[in-house]
Amino acid sequence: MIETIVESERLRLRVPGAADRATLHGWFGDRQVMADLGPVRDAVTSDEVLARHDGYRADGLGFWMVERRADGVPVGFCGLKPSDPGRPLAGELEIGWMFGPAHWGQGYAGEAARAVIDWAWAHRPDSRIVAVTARVNVKSQRVMERIGMRAEPTLDYEHPSYPEGDRLRDSVVYVIDRPAP
Ligand SMILES: CC(C)(COP(=O)(O)OP(=O)(O)OC[C@H]1O[C@@H](n2cnc3c(N)ncnc32)[C@H](O)[C@@H]1OP(=O)(O)O)[C@@H](O)C(=O)NCCC(=O)NCCS
Repeated sequence: MIETIVESERLRLRVPGAADRATLHGWFGDRQVMADLGPVRDAVTSDEVLARHDGYRADGLGFWMVERRADGVPVGFCGLKPSDPGRPLAGELEIGWMFGPAHWGQGYAGEAARAVIDWAWAHRPDSRIVAVTARVNVKSQRVMERIGMRAEPTLDYEHPSYPEGDRLRDSVVYVIDRPAP
């Protein structure tokens, strides 16, 4: 039985299993998915990313498979990680998402991200959650705004993984604070 983390009206977030690998490789290898996210990945580099997420699971973090409750179809990958060491937000709790293009435009990313944020307030001690994306990734910023995150331009930075002049280097930061008790 694969562990369910949290459910929302239409979605279930669960720990990914071996059977999800092909789906995740498909998304990491898809030009449309990766357009504003990073280099299109082959199976080896996709597995490297997935291994990083698995590495956070012992701490209760990691990205989770988002599946539709009605039919069990995987629609996305969404969750929490410790913000990368050596970057300005190191040590913060960072949310992120990637959905299959066939499942865009239905509010699934927003619904999954809201569920992740509620889960975080219940299970993590952090006082805020951050999200980072390339300035050109307008679709992702729309998700951030829809789920109640606010732009925090004082935290914006130049992403060190991309060279000067790369369109993905200029990164924007959004924040959501833990609601008052
Ligand atoms: C970023 C990404 C997840 C956004 O997906 P999305 O489907 O546009 O986002 P949402 O799930 O919030 O859906 C919102 C859209 O669904 C529509 N929608 C339809 N039914 C809806 C419902 N029941 N509830 C909410 N929105 C609904 C909204 O009107 C909105 O459409 P619009 O953007 O045309 O106005 C997706 O583009 C993606 O995976 N991109 C590639 C990976 C990536 O860049 N990740 C971000 C890294 S930082």
